[in-house]
Amino acid sequence: MFDNKHTYLSVGIVKYYAQLKALQPAEQTILDLFKDRWSSIKMLDIGVGGGRTTLHFSQATADYTGIDYSAAMIAACKTRFSASPQASFEIADARDMSQFEDDSFDFILFSFNGIDYISHADRLKVFQEISRVGKSGGHFCFSSHNLQAFEREFNFRRQLRFNPLKTYTNLVMFVLLRTFNPSLMLQKLKTAAHAIVKDESHNFRLNTYYVRHQEQLDQLEPNFSDVKSYSWSSGLELTHEQASNTTSDLWLYYLCTIN
Ligand SMILES: C[S@@+](CC[C@H](N)C(=O)[O-])C[C@H]1O[C@@H](n2cnc3c(N)ncnc32)[C@H](O)[C@@H]1O
Repeated sequence: MFDNKHTYLSVGIVKYYAQLKALQPAEQTILDLFKDRWSSIKMLDIGVGGGRTTLHFSQATADYTGIDYSAAMIAACKTRFSASPQASFEIADARDMSQFEDDSFDFILFSFNGIDYISHADRLKVFQEISRVGKSGGHFCFSSHNLQAFEREFNFRRQLRFNPLKTYTNLVMFVLLRTFNPSLMLQKLKTAAHAIVKDESHNFRLNTYYVRHQEQLDQLEPNFSDVKSYSWSSGLELTHEQASNTTSDLWLYYLCTIN
């Protein structure tokens, strides 16, 4: 079911990630938040893709390693950053980072929802691996798709607007979502803690994990503390109420301390 790696090996997708440059607003917030600390931080950037985040973090940190399970992404990074000896890249799967020793990194990033392309059981394994390779008191930052916001996209009535053009585009997306996800039922989604969805990213090719905010906090609870949530689009920190109920952000950033 989770054949997402195949997609991340394909030439066109690698090319797409290798030309991205800008940080997302929440990533900029995190970069600013640690601005006095980066120079002493050893960072692991998981699912580095084509190196979008490398551009910003590798120059700020004391030591920077980018990993990805797609050999093609790592090859693209090595080419893109061939003149940047401070950035190193390795092929590695987040589910098994046995090439890294315990307590190796001060800051671990898994950006742009990279963690959403594996199964539920593997996701829990990844959280454990991150807490193992991360130093106690260090930080882990990642983003993940927001099931609460997706539920609205999957609800016919929520697509209707006063603006007919907006209604039309909403309905086209609604029909595509329903077509690519024939077994998803709105009633079931409303009570689910997490769900696997084929959404529009890369033309509905990927199986993507969506999670409710409270469920995400529960998954982090055994290994992480002091969890903060951020709107990916505004970069602002969200209260629990905003992150759980009101935000329309299709994905949220999380920042937590490693126990
Ligand atoms: C949505 S892309 C984001 C790429 C990059 N971080 C960016 O923001 O432009 C997700 C990346 O995570 C990688 N990835 C997904 N699952 C992974 C895993 N289990 N281990 C390592 N990398 C993984 C994919 O190969 C892909 O490069």
